[in-house]
Amino acid sequence: MAIRTISCRVNGVPVQKEIDSDLRLIDFLRENLQLTGVKEGCGEGECGACTILLNGEAVNSCLMLAVQVEGAELVTVEGLAENGELCRLQQAFIDNGAVQCGFCTPGMILSAKALLDKNPHPTEEEIRRAISGNLCRCTGYQAIVDAIQAISSNTLHVQQPPLSPAQEKDRPQ
Ligand code: FES
Ligand code: FES
Repeated sequence: MAIRTISCRVNGVPVQKEIDSDLRLIDFLRENLQLTGVKEGCGEGECGACTILLNGEAVNSCLMLAVQVEGAELVTVEGLAENGELCRLQQAFIDNGAVQCGFCTPGMILSAKALLDKNPHPTEEEIRRAISGNLCRCTGYQAIVDAIQAISSNTLHVQQPPLSPAQEKDRPQ
């Protein structure tokens, strides 16, 4: 088994490690970097629990070798908090009851983030397609879709221009 040195950025932090060349990416993240928000469900590319962002794309880390991410930018769920606060997407999952056991949640949120970063206002069909590789046994998906839609419509709301004084006066209370 060959030892290789890999360099990449994980959650914005430069990382350089010597690893076995056959080490899976999921094991590199969980065991070498202690990023245990990356979950292992099936280990075969079927459940999406191990989803991370690789250069902005959602990928199954159980299907990749760590040596394949040389020079790449990786994001795990641990990298989403902003100044110690949950990001808006994480908070939306809580607010919409989209988390039960939580095992699928990190991967689900990262698939949603990959979608929203490219398409801030997805349709329900686009949302369902984006999370189709992430299995959830608990929530029945509607709450998850609602959480992702809440972010999308919030963004729309923020982008609306402020009401004029006349509109403000006529606004229903
Ligand atoms: S653990 Fe990777 S897809 Fe299931
Ligand atoms: S919340 Fe339990 S598997 Fe999704």
